[in-house]
Amino acid sequence: MADVCILGIESSCDETGAAVVRSGEKIESNVVASQIALHAPYGGVVPELASREHLRAIQPVVRQALDQAKQSYESIDALAVTQGPGLAGALLVGISYAKALAFALDKPLIAVNHLEGHIHAVLLEERQKGNRELNFPVLALVVSGGHTHLYLAEQLEQSWAYRNVGHTRDDAAGEAFDKVAKLLGLGYPGGPIIDKLSAFGDPLAVKFPLSQIKHRDRRKGAAEHNDQRPHFDFSYSGIKTAVLRYVEAHAMLPQIASRRAALERISKPTLEDYRSLLDQQTLDLVASFQRAVVNDLIAKTLAAADAYEVSTLFVTGGVAANGELRTRFESDAASQGFPVFFPSRPLSTDNAAMIAAAAYPKFLARDFADMHFSAEAGMGL
Ligand code: KG4
Ligand code: ZN
Repeated sequence: MADVCILGIESSCDETGAAVVRSGEKIESNVVASQIALHAPYGGVVPELASREHLRAIQPVVRQALDQAKQSYESIDALAVTQGPGLAGALLVGISYAKALAFALDKPLIAVNHLEGHIHAVLLEERQKGNRELNFPVLALVVSGGHTHLYLAEQLEQSWAYRNVGHTRDDAAGEAFDKVAKLLGLGYPGGPIIDKLSAFGDPLAVKFPLSQIKHRDRRKGAAEHNDQRPHFDFSYSGIKTAVLRYVEAHAMLPQIASRRAALERISKPTLEDYRSLLDQQTLDLVASFQRAVVNDLIAKTLAAADAYEVSTLFVTGGVAANGELRTRFESDAASQGFPVFFPSRPLSTDNAAMIAAAAYPKFLARDFADMHFSAEAGMGL
């Protein structure tokens, strides 16, 4: 089969992305316009601002992706766009744009699940490196600001099948990073800054017991999980509360307020700025928080890998950019005999290359979207 160039579009949260990927295995371009600076003053993503910014950015981002790939609207073979999950208004910007373009160009349009995209980020980069020797079944941990999900992933001929074998009951791991950073006056997004600061603290200073949730989910709507096979659930709202209690018990609130005010006065704080505003107790708290989350993510993923006798692990999504998570996963998984694969850091966080890559098997299967599909904010995989 001749090469297939797919233009992917991603707008589910706070990054406007467009990318051209050739046959699911070669990134020709991958452009991401981040809205971090826009949302930072609010300590999180403001949905209305996100939609407006996607509207402003989408056309130039798509143009740039085509230019960098030396492609034109006419030369691409198909378009792919994120259908969900994500913010409804943000998703709709990408979907409306992709539909209009597909209609005007008379090209097929493929709707992609964002979570499937994160899994395909790993596959895309392994293929790009020439690694075609992945063993199945794969267990994928998708860990981001909105998700902490475990999926068994299997390739059936051209298409892919996924089974959810774990998810968070409350906050996602990335959300916990963001909330703890906000609580400590460290700004937004919390993951990257906690990642950097943790190196300067003692990860054993504060003990955070994480709940061991392993029983079946009895909430309404959880019927699909009610088989006898084990489910590995996560929960990160408790640790955020534990950090708050620690802060209150140690009278750290005034210091946090002055740090927040000081950081607001600096337009782009450097690591040195942060370090000068953090005492050792706070650095120890940050490092201990990260250690606890990393331990929990690894322990549950490895337990699930054992229970389902998988051959390979994938760790993907924004939190997969975390340095400690990567090194610890690599050593712990290796000592238990599982090869583990991560996307590169730029492909861990939201991007459109992963959407174009996930669309390729659907292109081969001619699994095209009709013009009536809409955003699915709560879309499952
Ligand atoms: O995948 P992503 O870009 O967007 C969602 O689909 O949610 O993930 C963003 C999340 C944020 O919560 C951010 O704080 C977290 O990923 N994150 C990190 C790191 N880089 C981003 N968490 C921990 N360590 C990092 N280095
Ligand atoms: Zn994501």
